[in-house]
Amino acid sequence: MLKERMQEYAELVNKALDSYIIVEEKAEKKLLEAMKYSLEAGGKRIRPMLVLEGCRLFRKDFEKALPFACALEMVHTFSLIHDDLPAIDNDDLRRGKPTNHKVFGESTAILAGDGLLDFAYTVIAKELQNLEDIERKIKAFEIFSTCTFQMIQGEFVDISLEGKQIRSEELYHMHDYKTAALLKAALTMGAVLGGASSEEIEQLEEYAEKIGLAFQIKDDILSFTGDEKTLGKPIGNDKERGKNTFVTVLGLEKAKKILEETVQNALKILSKFTDIDTVFLKELAVFIKERNF
Ligand code: IPE
Ligand code: IPE
Ligand code: MG
Ligand code: MG
Repeated sequence: MLKERMQEYAELVNKALDSYIIVEEKAEKKLLEAMKYSLEAGGKRIRPMLVLEGCRLFRKDFEKALPFACALEMVHTFSLIHDDLPAIDNDDLRRGKPTNHKVFGESTAILAGDGLLDFAYTVIAKELQNLEDIERKIKAFEIFSTCTFQMIQGEFVDISLEGKQIRSEELYHMHDYKTAALLKAALTMGAVLGGASSEEIEQLEEYAEKIGLAFQIKDDILSFTGDEKTLGKPIGNDKERGKNTFVTVLGLEKAKKILEETVQNALKILSKFTDIDTVFLKELAVFIKERNF
């Protein structure tokens, strides 16, 4: 069920993303190509999937959430382009391909990231012009803009704490902002657009907070134990950069233990739901723990 639905969602999202940015013969052609390059380089599409699934839990025509799903993937891709820049993580490989700045140069990569961030808002602004479900859309928009800024703050915390000794609360806060914020927003935006009650949204947010944390802990683990080819990005450089991750701060075994507990907690939260079908979300939590890419 998980694999098929993930594929169904990824196809929908990829098709929609492809239609947004049109590369034309004009002076800014290279910028548009750079934006498209990273957006279409692949990626698991976990965030847009969560938007669509969040909506699907409460209404059949979940495709209505597609523009919000694509906007969030644009923000995520922007974060990856900038995260890989020499001034931040200085990485050469992303989604199995050379990073944006390696192909297009640093200044174009900065602008391509800026472009994707802004374009995401344009996609949502267009949606707001259609007044159907307008209150839900405005609420989803608020969640969207809040999470974007949290992710940026999380990235700042990540680089500003490089090489410093940090407390465990700081580690949790950093992961919550830099990674869980977008996953939480994805699921809750979808649920809001689907018409979920505030109690349902709150519980889904609690679940997403756990899988968001688990997602980053697993990312930390993979960057030690993963295979570069399967992962599509470099491994093994967190320690030399003085990065604070669950592995560098707490050690591999403790990181694995916390990952397991966090996923179990996510599953426990889901078991409180009796009226909605949470099978996909359950399987996704397990996938996040077990993934090797
Ligand atoms: C990578 O995110 C960055 C983190 C927040 C850990 P993903 O692992 O979702 O990256 P893609 O979208 O699949 O490339
Ligand atoms: C990726 O963070 C970017 C964001 C979470 C915003 P990391 O630097 O920890 O992850 P990778 O390993 O480069 O994907
Ligand atoms: Mg980083
Ligand atoms: Mg990085």
